[in-house]
Amino acid sequence: MESLHPTRRNFLHQATVVCGGLAAPGLAFAAQQRSTPKEKDSDKGGEEISPAEDLMREHGVLNRILLIYDEHLRLLTAKKPFDGSVLVSAADVIRHFVEDYHEKLEENFLFPRFRKAGKLVSLVNTLETQHKAGRELTAQIRELAATATLKLVSDAEKLGDALRAFLRMYRPHEAREDTVLFPAFRSVVSPHEYDALGDDFEKKEDELFGEDGFFRVVDQVAQLEKKLGIHDLAQFTPK
Ligand SMILES: [Fe+2]
Ligand SMILES: [Fe+2]
Repeated sequence: MESLHPTRRNFLHQATVVCGGLAAPGLAFAAQQRSTPKEKDSDKGGEEISPAEDLMREHGVLNRILLIYDEHLRLLTAKKPFDGSVLVSAADVIRHFVEDYHEKLEENFLFPRFRKAGKLVSLVNTLETQHKAGRELTAQIRELAATATLKLVSDAEKLGDALRAFLRMYRPHEAREDTVLFPAFRSVVSPHEYDALGDDFEKKEDELFGEDGFFRVVDQVAQLEKKLGIHDLAQFTPK
């Protein structure tokens, strides 16, 4: 597999020495942001990112959906009407991008290696349990949001509860992954395994999202923010 992206590999090995960080092959979509086709990686020099940085960037998408959930919770609490299709689409991003992709990477590529190494096992077990709980909440949110009118007070309350539970769990969940799990990842794999994992990530990403998949998802989330009126970042600056 080493021959697939020799230039990237070389850079990554250099970056490991220079930065002493988590340099490794990133997900394919990360490379695609900066250079399409991928062969242009060599022109871009040291812009490759590590799997940890990629996973954290995926958390950025998750965070933007959490903001969309926050806004719906605000509308629900204020008893203001909203277009349920935005919330359905947001839940679909969680399902397809976060649960079926990002969390599968964690479950298939990270968690087993921590368990095998006997490191952070309790944390890994909790994270995996939370993934399962998250999927149940997403199913509820998706279903309730799709009922559109939410005329029944009980449905509105159930939706509010599911959104609150999701927000309450995922913020500490992703914060723990960013600050504890991902930084420790390199300590449980060999450099060779790290390279192989990068290839595995790329394959998986290509299967699911194709070219520029990450940025398509980001654009999709931005469109939902616009529909909801929370896209303009400046509105959040204190006056
Ligand atoms: Fe996770
Ligand atoms: Fe995660």
